[in-house]
Amino acid sequence: MREITSEHRIGIAGAGTMGQGIAHLALAAGHPTLLFDIDVAMLEKARGAIQKTISQSIERGQLQGNSEEYMKRLELVNEAYGLKADVIIEAIVEKTDIKHGLYRVLESENTDQTIIASNTSSIPITQLATGLKHPERFVGMHFFNPAHIMKLVEVISGVATLPEVAQKIAGLAELWGRRPVFANDSPGFIVNRVARHYYVESLRLLEEGAADHETIDRILEAQGFKMGAFKLMDLIGVDTNFSVTSTMYQQFFQEARFRPSRSQQLKVQAGHHGRKSGKGFYDYSS
Ligand SMILES: NC(=O)c1ccc[n+]([C@@H]2O[C@H](COP(=O)([O-])OP(=O)(O)OC[C@H]3O[C@@H](n4cnc5c(N)ncnc54)[C@H](O)[C@@H]3O)[C@@H](O)[C@H]2O)c1
Repeated sequence: MREITSEHRIGIAGAGTMGQGIAHLALAAGHPTLLFDIDVAMLEKARGAIQKTISQSIERGQLQGNSEEYMKRLELVNEAYGLKADVIIEAIVEKTDIKHGLYRVLESENTDQTIIASNTSSIPITQLATGLKHPERFVGMHFFNPAHIMKLVEVISGVATLPEVAQKIAGLAELWGRRPVFANDSPGFIVNRVARHYYVESLRLLEEGAADHETIDRILEAQGFKMGAFKLMDLIGVDTNFSVTSTMYQQFFQEARFRPSRSQQLKVQAGHHGRKSGKGFYDYSS
């Protein structure tokens, strides 16, 4: 594969918050697109959500035609064995062992040319590539939420990633109208490393009783932040945000400045995962 074009088949693993936005981008660019999840209900939910965002893009004049033309290129898959593509973007749960299990299947079912890219927020690409038959064709492709709106994409090479693989992924991001930047393979890369303190300090303020979450958000927004920290955690997914902080805390040898919050852990245990579950720090049930 010289460079990735709209003829190439794109596979996306994980039909959650990020997988939906990435699938939107692949369909909008005209790729035959496979979307895989182990949860069949999630796949159906994702189809509806993608059709809705594509329709919105058409209404805003960002895409031409009608949503059916885009949606006909989407195939839903609920077995990892069925995910055969030229480029596979993995956006499943932020757990190293689960991602490794999936990569083993993907490598056995795909060709020696297939590029596997992870949308991980915090796990080093070198660590994720451990045990792969082809770590040279494994790379980080880190989108931001909502992926179909946010332009920035971090492209991260592990120690074994071939430079041309990172270049092809940056080219794909450009083809999709994104702005790729090359980032080092350090925990949290660039954005999540800096942004971690936005969440961690806001949670500390809450735990110290400085103010309630709504007041903290209001103050942050009044200072010019587009979204308060608690609204943003609800958008990201409280569970995903907690996993990212936990990974970074371990990766930085338990540095106190990255210590995860007990009250956030309780929210995860209660199933209050944010917008996607109907409740997080805020209530979205009505
Ligand atoms: N949410 C964000 O703002 C954000 C931003 C950038 C990157 N990320 C990263 O993207 C990845 C996905 O995050 P998300 O927020 O979309 O999570 P999510 O919880 O919304 O969705 C994850 C999906 O993965 C599926 N899944 C779990 N195990 C699976 C498996 N073994 N095989 C196939 N599917 C499986 C789940 O059923 C779920 O639908 C994570 O690595 C996360 O760190 C998230």
